[in-house]
Amino acid sequence: MSTDTTAINREMRLFERESQLWLFGYGSLIYKADFAYLERRRAQVEGWTRRFWQGSHDHRGTPEAPGRVVTLIEMPGAVCVGAAYRITPEVFAHLDHREKNGYLRRRVTLGFADGTGAEGLVYIADPANAAYLGPAPEAAIARHIATAAGPSGPNRDYLLRLAEALRTLGADDPHVFAIERELLALDAGAAHGTPA
Ligand code: SIN
Repeated sequence: MSTDTTAINREMRLFERESQLWLFGYGSLIYKADFAYLERRRAQVEGWTRRFWQGSHDHRGTPEAPGRVVTLIEMPGAVCVGAAYRITPEVFAHLDHREKNGYLRRRVTLGFADGTGAEGLVYIADPANAAYLGPAPEAAIARHIATAAGPSGPNRDYLLRLAEALRTLGADDPHVFAIERELLALDAGAAHGTPA
């Protein structure tokens, strides 16, 4: 499967007949909303967990030296907190392009803080996509992120901005925070001349 999922997403037409819909963001879509939206809320999805297991060829790395970004992995009992945006289908062209490196539109059930729920759309890069990197120890992921960079900037900025945005949402994410701690420890080691 090619890494460019734009055409697949366009052909699926998921949610395109709705006049408005909820988009669930769990990665850069939390801290970088470069699209029009009507409302933003904290939301969560059940049965999915956030993992730095997806390669990035176009934003935080290159095809030759991919960065690592998040995707959602199915995990019974898990809860993933993120940001839900009420959008109109006009923003699909922008979102499909932005998420083209392996992410497919999927339908999920969102839960809101007031106890209500709604069907929504999420972009997920599943293990079958060509840019998928898969699991690695969190310390190794941090070392990888420390050196990768792409057209959207250093990979470390993605990690640090996501961790900050999750704290602002009051979301606990042991995987993201462990990788952040590892990265900051690498920085501290470098500052003190500790060999990597
Ligand atoms: C998302 O943020 O919901 C998808 C992954 C990303 O763009 O970082």
